[in-house]
Amino acid sequence: MATQKQLIDDALSSGSFPGLPQGHFIDGAYSAAASGRVMNSLDPGRGEAFAEFACGDAADVDAAVTSARRAFEAVWRDTPAVERGRILYRAAALIREQAASLAVVECLDSGKPIGEAQGDVQGAARAFEYYAGACDKLQGDTFPLGPAYLGYSLHEPVGVAAQIIPWNFPISTAARGIAPALAAGCAVVAKPAEQTPFTALRLAEILLEAGLPAGVCNVVTGTGADAGAPLAAHGEVDHITFTGSVASGTAVMKAAADNVTRVVLELGGKSPVVVLGDCDREAALDGVMGAIFENAGQICSAGSRLIVERSLHDGFVEELCRRAEKLTLGHGLRNPQLGPVNSAEQLARISGFMERARERGVEVATGGAETADPQTGKGWFFQPTIVGVPGRDDELVQEEIFGPVLTVQVAEDADHALALANDSQYALVAGIYTGSFTLAHRLAQRLDAGQVYINEYFAGGIEVPFGGNKKSGFGREKGLEGLLSYCRTKSVAARI
Ligand code: NAI
Ligand code: MG
Repeated sequence: MATQKQLIDDALSSGSFPGLPQGHFIDGAYSAAASGRVMNSLDPGRGEAFAEFACGDAADVDAAVTSARRAFEAVWRDTPAVERGRILYRAAALIREQAASLAVVECLDSGKPIGEAQGDVQGAARAFEYYAGACDKLQGDTFPLGPAYLGYSLHEPVGVAAQIIPWNFPISTAARGIAPALAAGCAVVAKPAEQTPFTALRLAEILLEAGLPAGVCNVVTGTGADAGAPLAAHGEVDHITFTGSVASGTAVMKAAADNVTRVVLELGGKSPVVVLGDCDREAALDGVMGAIFENAGQICSAGSRLIVERSLHDGFVEELCRRAEKLTLGHGLRNPQLGPVNSAEQLARISGFMERARERGVEVATGGAETADPQTGKGWFFQPTIVGVPGRDDELVQEEIFGPVLTVQVAEDADHALALANDSQYALVAGIYTGSFTLAHRLAQRLDAGQVYINEYFAGGIEVPFGGNKKSGFGREKGLEGLLSYCRTKSVAARI
């Protein structure tokens, strides 16, 4: 097997990757779009096409849902839990075996630095491992109805679970949805983002190789309008997990309402990082840098609002700027500290925010402009950017930018920091840096967020439930709660 270095060198010199999947993955095999249409996938590091994939529509979605429904009813829902677990364990092992090539594909398709892509692939393997172990621990309750009755509950699989996946974490978002769905006994139809179709396809192929019966996991590629919308509106889909923008999530929820289909929505964020004067300054500096510049800020849970106590502010922000200016930029395959953003559209969106900010007279502490790979002059790059925010209502502090742009607000004390942190339409995550155990947990109680990180941003793993409040959505993925979202409870009461 080629080493990671060989795969990276080959991809850098050829600009592509051999043997990429072509077609949808339906009923255990690759197939072309019914319409015959294809579209390009682009390499953000160069801003150029590197491969083609199937451009699916309602006909392909229908074939995939039909395949999933058949496989669910014929085999998967009745496959013993221990056997489901064994298949998922084998999938985890195969992901680890193929990790080097999966990471290169992820890097080319999404633009993210190869080191981050490697981490995402390991995270995907870990999701399968975690839910593999959970399959045979999914158990119901008994109810104390007295000696004349027997009452108990069953966790039944919901049925066909759709996964609508974004481009910022293609393989890890696919894995964190597909693994619990399969563990619960559901069949899956996944629709990866049109910017990043390949690793979801590879995942479906790996699952087949691991022993998953054909048709239990299907992948349809294509745009949100052509393939995502018909999937969300399909009457034979029993559950939808959607990760992406508020606008598309709202459209999915409306489509689901017509069929009374259940949804889990993981939408945007504008997450605060509260840094108090008594914190470990080094840990906070590292944490804030990672919170906003990892994956070029294109993370729903990015820490995009720094709220720093006045006593620490001046030197802290100066040091952040110094570090931001030193970050290396480049093609993801060269493993820079900051990669490109995912698309020309995303770059334009970020630039739009900064242009409007300049027109309002907002002062940019560092960065603020588009740039390119210094080695090739190509690609969709945005400078690491830090902005002191003039007011709480400024769009820079209220809207999700989804790029490497950090806003800074000054807090007088912890209560003020809390008020600023909760002043948002979003409530996905929140970070806290403080040396006070008591203060950290008091703030954790009061912060409006689905999860709180204390003294390490992004702390946690697949074990920890993840999801948002307010416009960040509802429902939880990851953890045992993520597994239960693919189940429906049946209560049985019998007179005996
Ligand atoms: P998007 O929400 O349109 O795309 C996410 C997924 O939804 C893709 O697979 C897309 O094909 C699909 N989709 C789009 N419209 C759909 C519809 N009507 N029905 C069913 N599926 C549909 O996000 P987009 O346009 O790529 O990015 C726009 C903004 O959304 C970003 O700037 C960012 O602010 C936010 N976003 C948030 C993400 C998160 O992790 N929460 C991930 C991606 C984007
Ligand atoms: Mg791409």
